Order: sequence, then structure tokens, then C-alpha cells
Amino acid sequence: MRYGHFDDERREYVITRPDTPLPWINYLGCEAYFGIISNTAGGYSFYADARLRRLTRYRYNNAPLDFGGRYVYLRDDETGEFWSPSWQPTQNELEDYSCRHGLGYSIIGSRYKGIRSETLYFVPLGENLEVWRVRVTNDRETAAKLSLFSSIEFCLWEAQDDNTNFQRNYSTGEVEVVDGVIYHKTEYRERRNHFAYFACSAPQTGFDTSRDAFLGPYRSWDRPIVVETGKSTDSIAHGWQPMGSHHVEIELGPGETREVVFLLGYWENPQDDKFDPPNTQTINKRTVTPVIEKYLQSAAVEQAFDALRDYWTGLLGIVQVQTGNEHVDRMVNIWNAYQCMVTFNMSRSASLYESGIGRGMGFRDSNQDLLGFVHMIPARARERILDIAATQLATGGAYHQYQPLTKRGNNDIGSGFNDDPAWLVLGVAAYLKETGDTSILDVLVPFDNDPSAAKPLYEHLQRSIGYTLDRLGPHGLPLIGRADWNDCLNLNCFSETPGESFQTTEHKEGGVAESVFIGGLFVLAANEMTRIAGRRDDKVEEERCRKASAVMTKVVESAGWDGNWFRRAYDFYGKVIGSAENSEGQIFIEPQGMCIVAGIGLENGLATKALASVRERLATPHGIVLQQPAYSYYHLNLGEISTYPEGYKENAGVFCHTNPWLMMGEAMAGNGDGALDYYLRINPSAREEISEIHRCEPYVYAQMIAGKDAPTPGEAKNSWLSGTAAWNFVAISQWILGIRPEHGGLRIDPSLPASWGDFTVTRKFRGTTYKIAVRKSAGSTGRVARLVVDGRTIAGNLAPLPAQAGQTIEIEAFVQ
Ligand code: BGC
Ligand code: NOJ
Repeated sequence: MRYGHFDDERREYVITRPDTPLPWINYLGCEAYFGIISNTAGGYSFYADARLRRLTRYRYNNAPLDFGGRYVYLRDDETGEFWSPSWQPTQNELEDYSCRHGLGYSIIGSRYKGIRSETLYFVPLGENLEVWRVRVTNDRETAAKLSLFSSIEFCLWEAQDDNTNFQRNYSTGEVEVVDGVIYHKTEYRERRNHFAYFACSAPQTGFDTSRDAFLGPYRSWDRPIVVETGKSTDSIAHGWQPMGSHHVEIELGPGETREVVFLLGYWENPQDDKFDPPNTQTINKRTVTPVIEKYLQSAAVEQAFDALRDYWTGLLGIVQVQTGNEHVDRMVNIWNAYQCMVTFNMSRSASLYESGIGRGMGFRDSNQDLLGFVHMIPARARERILDIAATQLATGGAYHQYQPLTKRGNNDIGSGFNDDPAWLVLGVAAYLKETGDTSILDVLVPFDNDPSAAKPLYEHLQRSIGYTLDRLGPHGLPLIGRADWNDCLNLNCFSETPGESFQTTEHKEGGVAESVFIGGLFVLAANEMTRIAGRRDDKVEEERCRKASAVMTKVVESAGWDGNWFRRAYDFYGKVIGSAENSEGQIFIEPQGMCIVAGIGLENGLATKALASVRERLATPHGIVLQQPAYSYYHLNLGEISTYPEGYKENAGVFCHTNPWLMMGEAMAGNGDGALDYYLRINPSAREEISEIHRCEPYVYAQMIAGKDAPTPGEAKNSWLSGTAAWNFVAISQWILGIRPEHGGLRIDPSLPASWGDFTVTRKFRGTTYKIAVRKSAGSTGRVARLVVDGRTIAGNLAPLPAQAGQTIEIEAFVQ
């Protein structure tokens, strides 16, 4: 069952009923000002950091799940009836409801008793503000007298504090209202030089800034007293809960439309120019007024919206495929790329499943997010790499997370996740292959944000490699530390205290827990480093990495091999995990994926065996589950993985992040049919028709789909912020369709289903536009062995870089 449809032409998903199985959200903003918006206008906004600079309030885990947001209300002033055009919070029975989630914007509209309205929400490029453009149309045959109310509840900036420190916060709230603009200035009097503003383009009948006054005692957002009575109170908040609401009266003749623009924004003043007049406590508004005035104009809004749409046309134009498979084309060309931008921006910080206060930017997460983003805006990828690398420690280890606003490593979670450093090598390698910009390797980057300890990025990579080599266990495999990619395999934790964090609780001393997964990851990273060092002519490093990779490969193929698949780990006591010897958790997906992606076993048959075992034991119609058999009780020596009921999350859920590794593995092994089959099992668009089972948004990947052991198999959770986005983009575009940036050119090496015929790709790469036509006869399963580049035949499948960038090159690639 569907709850809407794709509009590929407009690059939108159109939700046609408000009561989706879960809130289906979108993101506003792609630079520094961001918002989450649901299909019923729920959500919140923040500047740069969802924890430290939150503009508006949101209460997670509410009932309904999504409650609180950018609500507007309409009131028929003749009958007194009022409603929310976005359905929430009043939940009137609307006609023609639709929510169009597009790239960086959402348009929510409906009709109620002959009054049609539509609100466009978006963030103009280059600005720290969001526009709500409301259009109200009278479809009645008679004139209508209406009131329009805006509403937003301000957050007192630090979201964690805002959620907990009520004894202080009920007394700190402050606002100013000048010329119809509501300014939220809590703590501006002291150490903050930023404020929020909420402005309106139309003349107003009144306003409110006190939530109590707006809602009325013991009322909620579904029937604010101000909206019910049609009378704003011009309240000024002193402490308690500052909010913003404007009241605009609208008279519309039959067929007439009125447009009202609301702006919600963030502004920073220079420290020495905060007040106007100086020496008062009044906000200096001279700096922000021109921006407000600009965007209250319809024409400026229209222009900014066009610019946003053009921006996305440009970004998406870098990779465009026409394969004839709508699920492939739609995801690669639109939604998967878009999700890669969102994961790049958010890491794992703010979604409806990540509260914005728990986690900032993940070291491993953000490095992986780069893989699906780097082609879009390489300059931002470069900046991100340098930020991430600055949180690396001198040991080569890394803070597991950092705050986006401060860019400082997060002490609460600390370090010791032994896979972290290797991902930096992969992130940088992707950047180098995409851009050829080796100058980044020479940039001086601090360790632990201490500029006095800066070293070239290249040395950071060397230390990443060294970190693993310095921490090998009895089998020669990397020690796992707190955890590797699988945060829930906590082999040194042995937690018996309720509520203790598995990721941070002090380790039991003296263990030798090793990870086969990090073994595979290390081989992949060391191979990348071999190539990077080679191109830099650093023979010593090249040799060190080549050798280390070869040695680790041997170790993985012996101590890491179970007979039919790769093992997962050795526990604290040196006992094997992920082996036929175990009664539960015999086979795990992640070492199969990562080892094969690293090339281990591709030549000696191990990969073929491992792939067959995955297909036999882990693959389900809803994707490939993480391990089997699921853990049926708490295993003290394994940690969090066995805390989840069977089939959920890391305990045998389809942890979607890992599936693309198997798609890549199948593609590398030459099984294009198998690769695409896995791809389509978790492709959100392909799952759209089972939305009532999948429940999450059909336009983006979710972190998890419940596995076959769960009572709700196929039910997705934790949509949006997952490494699934980047890795699926890599798997489909670079390995299945096979268009892959390499240091020396663009590789064209598809691994396709037999039934496929020709397809075309446009790929902009290092300033050149490659128009690629892959020629394939149905039935063939071979690889590309010859290219015709602008009419000239080239053996092999590497499209060379032209002497001069800036041209368009036509390529035909022939599959044998
Ligand atoms: C989740 C993991 C997550 C970890 C981070 C666990 O509860 O299952 O997926 O990475 O928490 O804190
Ligand atoms: C989610 C985390 O963000 C990611 O880093 C981790 O690899 C997975 N959970 C698996 O546990």
C-alpha cells in the first residue's frame, strides 16, 4: 500500500494523506541553517548544531510521535471554525491534502470548506533563515473573512539544557517585538551574541510571544485560545516559554489568492555591536533588518526558491543515469544523492530518531558519508576531512564523535573504537580519486585540536595505519577496543549494571578481543594508502602498507576463516565469534562484506564461498540480516548486540549499512544479477508499494529493517541518518553500474544483470563531462574490455583524463 507517489519530473515525493505510518520527514537547509520538517509540518530548526544552537523546541517521543512544529492556523472569522492546513495539530478532515517533499524544501497544502492553502518551507542558499510562504485561495463562490496565525515555540538555545534545567530556564526567557518582528533574545544580555527572529510580510492585527497566553490554560496546540477566539493578546514573554505568533486578517473575494511570507531566522551580531543604542539592553537590529526586508518580498522569495532548485539541478547533474529501471534511476539521480547530502550535513546528529543532543558528528560516520558526497561539493568535503582529522589523537586513534559547532572531540564518548582511524584513510582516498587534489595531503592538521601539534594530513593517514599495526592481538588480527563498526559488539565491556553505556563503560582489563572486520577494513585502507604513497613517490610508506596488507590478508584468510565464511571476531578470552562452532551468531554479514570489498578471497575461492553462505543463511526478501542465528539471551561477553530482541538492530536486523558491501562483493565477483537483486531488496523506491509494512519514508534509506526473527519483519526504523546512504550510492553507481573515479581516470567497469541491455550515464569528473553509453547485449554477463573514446578505440576500461578539462567526451563502453 502507498501513501503517495514519486513525482520524478519535479524531484518530489508527494504524500497524499497526512496519517502516514510514521512521520515522513524532510530536511530544510543545506549549509549552516537546518530544519527537520515532517509531512504535517512538525519538526524544529537549528543553526549549525542541533544541540548547541537550537532555535525552536521539539519534544521527542511524544504522542502523536511527531508533535510541535511550524504550524499555521486558518480561522473562518464568520463561523469561528479553525483548522491547520497541514492537518496537525488540529486534525480536521481536509480535502486534497498533499505534502510535496522536495530537495531542501517542502510544500504542504490542503483545502478545507472551500479555502485552499499551500505553504512552501525552505532555506534560501547563503542565508540563516527559513521562509514559510503561505498562499491562501478562496475557492468558494462567496467572499471569505479569514484569520491566519503563525506559531513557533522557541528553544532556549542549548537543547539538552532546555530539556532539563527548568528551575533556571523558566526565568530566563526574553523577547522584543518591534515593527511586527518578534525577536527571541534569551541570554543575549550575557554571553550570547545571537538571537532568533520571526517576521511576517503582512500587516498584523496582533501577535503573541507567551505560550501561555497563546494556548490558554490547560490547552494544547490543537486548540489555542487565541486561534479559537480569533484574538491575539500582544503578550510579551517574561521567562516561562517564549514563542512567536502573528495574526493576519485576510479578506478574499471568490477565486482570490493572498500570499503571506513568514521568516524565521538566526542572526549573530559582532560582540562589540550587540546593542542599539549602545549601553542599553536592546538588540542591535540594524544588521539584520536588510535581510528581513529582502525576504519579506515575494520576488526575493521566488528568486531564492528558483536558485535552490537550480542548485540541486547542478549538484544532481554530476551523476545522471538512464538505465530503464525506475528504482535505480530515481534513487541514483535524485533521492540517494540527496540523502548523501543530508547525511554529510547531519552525520548522525538530528533526525526523528537522533535527538540532536546525543551524538554530534561521528568520526567513522562522517568519513563514510564523504564517500557518497565528495563528487557533489568537493570543497566542502575537503573542509570536512580537515575538521575530522583535527580530532584525531596523536596515537592515531580518534575521538569517536565531535560537536559540529565547536569541532571539538566529545569527551563523553571518548575514543578507543579501533576501527575509527582506518575510515579516515578511506575518506581521504575518495577525495583524492574524485578531485586529484593531492595538496590536501600537505595541509598541516592538529591532533586533538591542538594547533601546536599540527602535522601534514599525510602523516595523519600514516598514523591511522600505524594505530592498527600497533594494536594486534594473539592471532595477528586487530584488537577491537571498545567496538569496531558494530557499536554493539562490546567484547571488553562485561556490563552487569542496568543502564550503563556499552560504548563507554570501563573495560575489563587483560582481554585479547580481536576483530576480523577491522582486519578486512585495514586491508582496504592499507591498499588505498599503498596507492596514495605510491603516487607521492614515498617508497618506504608504499612498501610498509603493501606488506602490511599482504600480512593481514594472510591472517584474515587463516585465523579469520571459518571454512565457509569469514569469522567475526575473537572474544576477550580468545574464543571465536561468528563461527559454526557457536550456537548463536554463527555468521555475521560485516566481515563477509568488508573482507571481500577489500579484495580478500576473490582469487582463491574464499569470496565465492562466503557469498554463497550469505545468500543461504542471511539473505531475506527484506534485505540481508546482520547475523544468524539471532541471540536469544544476553551474552555478557558480547555486550549490547544481545540486548536487542531478535531481529532488531544489530541483533539480526537488516542493518542496511552493511548490505551494499555485499552488493559490491557480488559485483566484484562478477555476479551482476546477485548484486542488483540485493540492491533492489532494500531500495526504498522498490519498497514503496509495501509502505504499510516498511512504514518509513519510501524516498530514503533507513538504518534498519526488522529481520526475519522479528515479529514485524520488513518494518524499517531510524530513517535518514545512516551510512546506508553513502554506501548504496557507491555500490550502485561505482560497482554495479561501474562508473568509478580512480586516481588516474574514470573506470567504466559495470557488473550487470544478464537481462540488462544498453544504458547511459553522464558523469562530470574533474571538470570534464563524460557522456557514457554502455553497450551490452541481453544475456551477456561479461565486463567492459574496450572503450571507444570520441571515436578512438582504447583497450581496457579506464577512461583517461583529457589533457585539458572543460570538455565533453563521448564514450562507448562495450561489455563482452
Ligand atoms: C545502536 C547502534 C549505535 C549505538 C551508538 C546502539 O544502541 O544500536 O546502532 O551506533 O547505539 O551509541
Ligand atoms: C550506527 C553508528 O552510527 C555507526 O557508526 C555504526 O557503525 C552502526 N550503528 C552499527 O553499530
